[in-house]
Amino acid sequence: MQIKNICCIGAGYVGGPTMAVIADKCQNINVDVVDIDLKRIQKWNSSNLEELPIYEPGLKEIIQRCRDKNLKFSTSIKEKINNADMIFISVNTPTKKKGFGAGKASDLKWVEACARQVALYASNHTIVVEKSTLPVRTAGVIKEILNESEISTKNSNLKKTFDVLSNPEFLAEGSAINDLISPDRVLIGGENPNAIDCLAQIYQKWVPDEKILRTNLWSSELAKLTSNAFLAQRISSINSISAICEETGADIREVSKAIGSDSRIGSKFLNSGPGFGGSCFKKDILNIVYLSEFFGLPEVASFWESVVRLNDWQQHRISKLIVRKLFGTLSNKKIVILGFAFKANTNDTRESPAKNISKDLLEEGASLVIHDPKVSSDQINFDLKIESTKPLTGGKNISFDLEGKWQKENNLEDCFKDADAVILLTEWDEYKNIKWEKVFGQMRKPSWVFDTRSITNPSEVRKAGLNLWRIGDGL
Ligand code: UDX
Ligand code: UDX
Repeated sequence: MQIKNICCIGAGYVGGPTMAVIADKCQNINVDVVDIDLKRIQKWNSSNLEELPIYEPGLKEIIQRCRDKNLKFSTSIKEKINNADMIFISVNTPTKKKGFGAGKASDLKWVEACARQVALYASNHTIVVEKSTLPVRTAGVIKEILNESEISTKNSNLKKTFDVLSNPEFLAEGSAINDLISPDRVLIGGENPNAIDCLAQIYQKWVPDEKILRTNLWSSELAKLTSNAFLAQRISSINSISAICEETGADIREVSKAIGSDSRIGSKFLNSGPGFGGSCFKKDILNIVYLSEFFGLPEVASFWESVVRLNDWQQHRISKLIVRKLFGTLSNKKIVILGFAFKANTNDTRESPAKNISKDLLEEGASLVIHDPKVSSDQINFDLKIESTKPLTGGKNISFDLEGKWQKENNLEDCFKDADAVILLTEWDEYKNIKWEKVFGQMRKPSWVFDTRSITNPSEVRKAGLNLWRIGDGL
């Protein structure tokens, strides 16, 4: 079977970039990305490429090359499903808020809704690919829904047949395009080797065959959850050690380097910070916790749950120590938050540590000035659930009625006037070049810098006259 038309349901952080790269690498395939969110689709179609709904380095160049040629964004879900030989399901799977498994299990209502739409509108033979990260055995749910459709059309002219594959995404935001172009591996899980080959042939256009791993469906689903759980576990491990460093005089950067030089451990994902964020890590670990509890494995559940607990603790411990260093009270104090995204090079704030830390500080009565090069005021409003006060103009002094409130400042240089503390929460490049001497001159004394990402040069900051706290720095 030769794939000519692909439809991807879900134009989000995963669906958008993944389909852009497939369209770019396979110009003989038509790629249609559909979404129920009309506003998001309009942004994907905007003639101003700065208005794309997500920010990813390298994305807009691909959109410029392929959009309206073999890459299209629309809300024509029924038509595009009908036309497709292969359908990717790339919709969101948030953690359930109520009912059985609330707070841990993934809410599969969108995935189920998509499977039902595919069952209804698909024609002939269709390969359905799970792209969303899903609990193990979700492919079973999709297959059951599609089977019903196979049975009911068996004897008609409009006979429908399906194959279901799992093809989890390993891209990390901020480096998504590069991760898609040069993946460590592509994982395809499935039962029918012909269907697996069809998908493998697409990736073979740019990925060497030895990097395309073929597994059964359930291994593929579990491998994705486990990858994220292992990465997150390393971060919680190193963050737990950061606290020991601060008590003992050790330095977490030196410890990370020393242990990362052991080739059995490896150097990646050993940067201590304010805790992991992003849409995947917490959700995927909680999925493993839920599955383990469901299958009667409480020890396994509690092992993985501790990774999330440690992450929450790391965030609140930073908030607490900021309050402590600032004489136990934040009321009438101006605090500058540098970075609101969960990591650099993305506008995504899902599970961002900056959210929890900002909320803690607002609760303590601080007046926050928030800067982030890519996150909008509307997004911060949504995340903090507190309306911003009017944007600062020209770094005006903050007045006391701003207690427990926040303002967005778009110009980095205008953030610091009369501030008591600066908290570095996202490792954006522009924060690495801050002229601390100048900043010190503008701040109220004693002035503090809290560097949770190890991006400052400590001797420069201290030489400028500022007090510096760095993550995992015991000196
Ligand atoms: C992805 C994966 O799909 C998710 O499982 C993984 O854990 C995180 O990454 P992501 O692309 O980041 O999700 O999600 P999001 O940016 O929210 O995009 C999902 C899109 O699907 C949204 O634009 C939403 O409107 C759309 N959607 C949702 C549909 O088009 N149809 C639906 O029925 C539900
Ligand atoms: C992650 C996985 O890396 C990716 O394979 C999967 O498909 C989706 O989830 P993402 O969440 O986009 O990707 O970003 P990632 O680079 O993994 O960072 C996650 C969080 O961990 C960020 O908050 C980051 O700041 C933090 N982190 C990462 C650390 O605190 N220390 C590190 O050493 C690395």
